Amino acid sequence: MPGVKVLVIGGGAREHALCRSLSLDPDVTELHCAPGNAGIAQVARLHPVDQLDGAAVADLAAGLGAGLVVVGPEAPLVAGVADAVRDRGIPVFGPSREAALLEGSKAFAKDVMAAAGVPTARSYVCTTPEEAADALDAFGAPYVVKDDGLAAGKGVVVTSDLQEALAHAAACGRVVIEEFLDGPEVSLFAVTDGTTVVPLQPAQDFKRAHDGDEGPNTGGMGAYSPLPWAGPELVDEVLATVLQPTVDELRRRGTPFSGLLYAGLAITSRGVRVIEFNARFGDPETQVVLARLRTPLAGLLLAAATGRLDELEPLRWSDGAAVTVVVAAEGYPASPRSGDPVEGLAEAEAADGTAYVLHAGTRLGEDGAVLSAGGRVLSVTAVGEDLALARRRAYDAVARIRLAGSHHRTDIALRAAGGQDAGRDGRQDDGAR
Ligand code: AMP
Ligand code: GLY
Repeated sequence: MPGVKVLVIGGGAREHALCRSLSLDPDVTELHCAPGNAGIAQVARLHPVDQLDGAAVADLAAGLGAGLVVVGPEAPLVAGVADAVRDRGIPVFGPSREAALLEGSKAFAKDVMAAAGVPTARSYVCTTPEEAADALDAFGAPYVVKDDGLAAGKGVVVTSDLQEALAHAAACGRVVIEEFLDGPEVSLFAVTDGTTVVPLQPAQDFKRAHDGDEGPNTGGMGAYSPLPWAGPELVDEVLATVLQPTVDELRRRGTPFSGLLYAGLAITSRGVRVIEFNARFGDPETQVVLARLRTPLAGLLLAAATGRLDELEPLRWSDGAAVTVVVAAEGYPASPRSGDPVEGLAEAEAADGTAYVLHAGTRLGEDGAVLSAGGRVLSVTAVGEDLALARRRAYDAVARIRLAGSHHRTDIALRAAGGQDAGRDGRQDDGAR
């Protein structure tokens, strides 16, 4: 592949992970990011461009002579930023506004899954309190109530308390109410050009804020890969029953999906079920998946952006493991506090590259100090021969980081590293396996 200038859109730990991998790719001649964050500034040139402004992003890409634009987060995708770039004839990794509805509307995703025969939870779309009450009654506890629109992983309430379920439905307006899915969760990503689908390696995310899967849902507090409790046949099954049929259905509708298709899955006692689709790389799962990907990233993303994935060599992966632990600000997810100094970052990095810090909500203060500027402040990623070693390295690094009031989970990959089943979000599960 000839050299390529790459522009990454976004500024979270996922984009830092993408930029880190791209910066290590010899085919990438220049790396730019908008808006980026204090950590990304170490590997890419930052541009203060509004990531939701498609025209501004396309202008920036054209001005830089970018040969590939990678759109990280869902908000710009749903706002049509990929379309604006594609319209200028610049290859872009990320779906169109219409295809990104797969993430932007839970009701749309359910409709696509029904048409494609993809297994998912039975559900009702409800717009009034009466409809919501009927649907909750039909399924019984535990209740699952999802805001129809984008909510950064925080629009979902899973509860056995009927009043709480009704209150969430009333607060959201249009909701999807669905049956509860038991069993461990898996995040499986696939790179697609709208026709060919290339699955990546599965990871597991920890969605609840506190140890033991207690507390509210978050964007994700940690992740690990590979999953010692899931065999390779899982990926084959999900490709055949979920990923390929979904991509085929969107192409059939005239809105092909190209970019990253993220399947959030429950491995239930009755088989694999889709919990949700996302239209972009997951955060923090991307940190562990990319830590293990050996195939250079730019060529993979460019092949998807230009419709040539069928020509790609099979992906290569490290045999080792990766673990990432999110350090969150005090008050996250409800009301994170920001503006505090983040210290110990250099000490947390391992000289041999086996542990490193990926920034999410950070910014540089006037004196050059790194300050917290978001709920998930950073995620520490570590690799090792096995999960136990990767986990130890990740937590050694977390212990060196100082941020007043911060919190993190201490049980990321704990059960998986012990060789046991991981359960839902890592909880020991006596249902599925
Ligand atoms: P979502 O935003 O749809 O991924 O939901 C966030 C989290 O809520 C998921 O990762 C699950 O832990 C939980 N969840 C969502 N839907 C269900 C369901 N039908 N049954 C059980 N848990 C669910
Ligand atoms: N880790 C969950 C997400 O990216 O939506």
